[in-house]
Amino acid sequence: MAKVAAVQHVCSECGTSTGRWLGRCPGCGEFGTLVAEAAPSRGQRRPAQAGELAVRPPLRLVDVVAEESERLSTGVPELDRVLGGGLVPASLVLVGGEPGVGKSTLLLSALGAIARERRGLLITGEESVAQVKLRAARLGGCDDVEILAETELDVVCETLERERPAVAVIDSVQTLWSQEIGSAPGSVSQVREAAARLLRVAKEAGVATFLVGHVTKDGSVAGPRVLEHLVDCVLQFEGDRYHEHRILRAVKNRFGSTNELGVFEMTGAGLIGVPDPSELFGRTHAGEVGAAVTCALEGTRPLLLEIQALVAPTDLAMPRRVGTGVDPKRLAMIVAVLSRHAGLALGGADVFVNVAGGVRIDEPGADLGIALAIASAAKGVPVREGAVAFGEIGLTGRLRPASQSDRRSEECRKFGSALVLGPQLDTLRRALGAGLAENPA
Ligand SMILES: Nc1ncnc2c1ncn2[C@@H]1O[C@H](COP(=O)(O)OP(=O)(O)OP(=O)(O)O)[C@@H](O)[C@H]1O
Ligand SMILES: [Mg+2]
Repeated sequence: MAKVAAVQHVCSECGTSTGRWLGRCPGCGEFGTLVAEAAPSRGQRRPAQAGELAVRPPLRLVDVVAEESERLSTGVPELDRVLGGGLVPASLVLVGGEPGVGKSTLLLSALGAIARERRGLLITGEESVAQVKLRAARLGGCDDVEILAETELDVVCETLERERPAVAVIDSVQTLWSQEIGSAPGSVSQVREAAARLLRVAKEAGVATFLVGHVTKDGSVAGPRVLEHLVDCVLQFEGDRYHEHRILRAVKNRFGSTNELGVFEMTGAGLIGVPDPSELFGRTHAGEVGAAVTCALEGTRPLLLEIQALVAPTDLAMPRRVGTGVDPKRLAMIVAVLSRHAGLALGGADVFVNVAGGVRIDEPGADLGIALAIASAAKGVPVREGAVAFGEIGLTGRLRPASQSDRRSEECRKFGSALVLGPQLDTLRRALGAGLAENPA
């Protein structure tokens, strides 16, 4: 049997462990992420005697009795939508987001609404009870929420088992620590242990649990990627704290569609849901050069988004292509296709693209909208008023209809768009001709 080193070096990003310290993690390739942790002690196990293990025969699925339990409404319609129609009892949900984005605020208002009918418990490891009280006073309606300031994992699990609230919020999972594990709170093994124990408690005691998790600069939940595999749902809270709009999306959902989207506005009285985000993000100023509207599909939700572009002459040998909210590779491709197939000379210009409201687009259906904004900026000609463009751009300059074009067209109609560019057009050149207010070319 291979000998296990007394100290393991574990990557704080992906959880890979090695026997010796390395500058670069062999698992994820990050530099300087390996930290020393005491290896778990493995006692010599005696082989089990016959009759000692409770081995149960497997069941046929048809014989399994499963009651579909009713989902709990969180009292926050946008959160319910992202969860796929409410919170599933006894599920474990991880809510990730950058510091200050509003995780604690969102979950406290949800817990406030839940606690009016059921028991809702907030376990805070990050803030004092008094700090939470101040936030609750600002939000209002949180009087029935029960609260406990605790960071020791055993005590937290014991409390959940004894009190059995319908919903518990752990803020945050990185502050929990177990004495049995010799490493600091927030380390991979601590967080992994905390999540695994809480998962067991959630299922056995029937407590639907929200775990708050901090995310690293690249947007993944800090430390353990393993956490994402353990939990039932992973929700990402996005948007930067300097803007008032926040986006909540499901990255993983065992009980519903992923990539559902909820939009919130941060106000003094907490997070207010925005039921019609197209109205908010899809308006451009008439006659503005470099702005176009696209219809992107976020999960099952079509969303109108303003795309802004700036094309500026540059002396750089390698002009910059900078996108906020768009995939850089996709942007480079769109710029190349515009140069090659639409006659736009972008080789000597920097191209900047920005998606309104801090929304991130990761589907090719928005290509045409991005191309139209860049073409408008490059030619100095505004996009036709009321135009919405969507469609996938191919490398040959041909357009492919975006997926679920009917739903997108319907959203455009609902929004009162005068000109829908997309499904009926075949080439990028023709689409630009139809989309720009006057085409000098
Ligand atoms: N009085 C206020 N008026 C408006 N917005 C406020 C007010 N107080 C706080 N906020 C907003 O709430 C945000 C902090 O929210 P919250 O504490 O829920 O974030 P968090 O994601 O839990 O942060 P952390 O990672 O630090 O726990 C602030 O960044 C700010 O935008
Ligand atoms: Mg917080």
